[in-house]
Amino acid sequence: MIHLVLIFFLWFSACSSAQTEGIDTVMDAAFDPDKVLIVYLSRTNNTKAIAEMIQEKVGGKLVELELQTPYPEDYDAIVDQVAEENESGFLPPLKTEVAIDKYDVVFVGFPTWGMQLPPPMKSFLHQYDLSGKTVIPFNTNAGYGVGSSFETIEELCPDANILEGFSIEGGIERDGILFVMEGEKAEEAEKKVTEWLQKIEVI
Ligand SMILES: Cc1cc2nc3c(=O)[nH]c(=O)nc-3n(C[C@H](O)[C@H](O)[C@H](O)COP(=O)(O)O)c2cc1C
Repeated sequence: MIHLVLIFFLWFSACSSAQTEGIDTVMDAAFDPDKVLIVYLSRTNNTKAIAEMIQEKVGGKLVELELQTPYPEDYDAIVDQVAEENESGFLPPLKTEVAIDKYDVVFVGFPTWGMQLPPPMKSFLHQYDLSGKTVIPFNTNAGYGVGSSFETIEELCPDANILEGFSIEGGIERDGILFVMEGEKAEEAEKKVTEWLQKIEVI
């Protein structure tokens, strides 16, 4: 009898673990995907690629930040404009609108610009009140890191629960290296994104 019970137990647990493996990762996410917003700024699509990886694993709504008046295409011109905006504290008006009340968790993705949080993301965090929400920053950069951007998010979201952010090297537009999140680099990024999401217990 004990053997029969044991065999049944082993068979049952084998079936349930096989089923768990088959379930889409989104189903394993710690948050209700309907309450997750992934808002990102991306000029050369590296941060967008990370945003898409997060969405694949967590679910949620992807929203790209767009400006009422887009930045210039020319790299030197955008660098100058961003430097002026950072200096003066100008917040460029957003074209993007978000029904923020629908979300409990907000992933906030952006490239490093001038070693700071880019002005459009400063606009977003000024415009929308994320008090009481979980805020999760992620970033790509040209190899110089996040600069002051994570600190600025803390300043602009004083009453949010801010989780550990993620950062990875993306393009180097200055040197003509634009989109890099493909092939081996995309695989490596995907692995790091998964490890980070597991560490912060989002998946
Ligand atoms: C205006 C501007 C300023 C930048 N400043 C920095 C910087 O200070 N440090 C850095 O590491 N990368 C800097 N970069 C490079 C971007 O952070 C990097 O290429 C990033 O991966 C771009 O992300 P995206 O493809 O999502 O636009 C800058 C890029 C631009 C366009």
